[in-house]
Amino acid sequence: MRIPPLVRFVGLGCLAGVAAMAASNVTFNKEVLPVLQKNCQECHRTGEVAPMSLLTYAEARPWAKAMKAAVLSKKMPPWFADPSYGHFANDRRLSQEEINILSAWADSGAPEGDAKDKPAPVQFTSGWKIKPDLVIEMPEDFVLPAAGTINYKYIRVPGNIKEDLWVEAAEMRPSNPKVLHHGKVWVLPPGSKWMADAEPGKPYEGREAGRVSLSDGNDILGKFNPGLGAQSFDIDGSAKLIPKGSDFVFELHYTAAGKITTDRSKVGVVLAKSKPNVRYFLSPGTPAALNLVIPAGDSNAEVVAESTVGVETKLTYIQPHMHLRGKDYELRLIYPTGETQTVFKGKFDFEWQLGYSLQEPILLPKGTRIVTIVHFDNSPNNKFNPDPKQEVYWGLQNWDEMQSSFLGFLVPVNTDIGEVLRSTGPSLLPRPQGAGPALSTLGAMNTK
Ligand code: HEC
Repeated sequence: MRIPPLVRFVGLGCLAGVAAMAASNVTFNKEVLPVLQKNCQECHRTGEVAPMSLLTYAEARPWAKAMKAAVLSKKMPPWFADPSYGHFANDRRLSQEEINILSAWADSGAPEGDAKDKPAPVQFTSGWKIKPDLVIEMPEDFVLPAAGTINYKYIRVPGNIKEDLWVEAAEMRPSNPKVLHHGKVWVLPPGSKWMADAEPGKPYEGREAGRVSLSDGNDILGKFNPGLGAQSFDIDGSAKLIPKGSDFVFELHYTAAGKITTDRSKVGVVLAKSKPNVRYFLSPGTPAALNLVIPAGDSNAEVVAESTVGVETKLTYIQPHMHLRGKDYELRLIYPTGETQTVFKGKFDFEWQLGYSLQEPILLPKGTRIVTIVHFDNSPNNKFNPDPKQEVYWGLQNWDEMQSSFLGFLVPVNTDIGEVLRSTGPSLLPRPQGAGPALSTLGAMNTK
């Protein structure tokens, strides 16, 4: 029924048969540039996340061998979903033909080819990837110290939202992407208890508690992570709600840059043309294993979390979240019938916080359990590991760990968001002794 993503490339006549093509026939202008335009330039150009630009022959030529190595090893483009599970609309994998083109080009001395073969350059909009109808910005610059740990900052920003707004897409942009490790903009509907006492514009610390308040309707509007890009909420006409009278909270995790710097982040939104029937809701980091324990030195520490859906909904988006010791991630559904289905499985790499958009949303009947099964590498072999001798618990800083999901759900607009998800099963256990909670706790739990 579903079209495997690789099949989509097969129809491209100009790429077919390249496997057989003599290496010397492949030129930059004819075969290579289209591959770079389609798959690489979104990141490999000035001002984006990648270290070098790959827009022109002069820029790409010195990287020919490195590009071959990066695509053969699947290091580039970054994409971690195991192709045996799930199909994703934003699948970044190259086709075999595209890999062959880059390899053959490197092997034949990276010729430029005929200028008349060159496709027109892609027109990138600098800055915004969306065309925002409304921009919400921090009222003042945040000043970062030159060094030291910077705790998470929370800044309440007044909304002046005069009517319910339905948002089709959002994009969070720091003014200084080098120092914002990650950020979120939360919608704070009127009456929310979180940050209720906060003075607008002033940065607060230690305000983690209460932000994940489903019953107050707190929802994440836009997120910034390396490689994440803009977020679309339009799945066959769905949109995200900013209720009339809402404010916003900017949650900012900064990293000091060696000198005093500033940032002023903003979020842009594209408004839906009309009121939708379906609301897009992003789970604020649930399921979550707040009780996790990772043993010192363990290279494959298993931790399981579980939530159950309280209404019929559709799952449309999966963004795993772990820290430095994160290794792999699986999302498994257990339907009320007892049937199980793995919808995502993949390697986790701390340098990327990728999101995976399901090609087709999956219907979750009320009572479906969402189980996330992950492994952490707390051994000295993990190059990111800050301290393999440490037993590790849940915490906000990168040397603590997390086991969370940001999941996109589609619900009828009148749904009480507080009903969509509740923690169940292993996530309700007290912190286990020594390790876990492991998958073996799943069967033992009575999750009514
Ligand atoms: C989502 C953004 C993104 C996309 C898409 C992307 N890259 Fe990269 N690339 C990066 C970043 C960031 C780095 C530097 C960090 C790293 O090496 O992991 C990088 C590094 C590289 C390197 C250096 C690797 C090394 O080992 O030093 C090469 C070569 C490369 N990319 C080629 C490509 C090619 C070819 C494509 C397209 C087929 C591509 N990239 C697509 C973001 C991207």
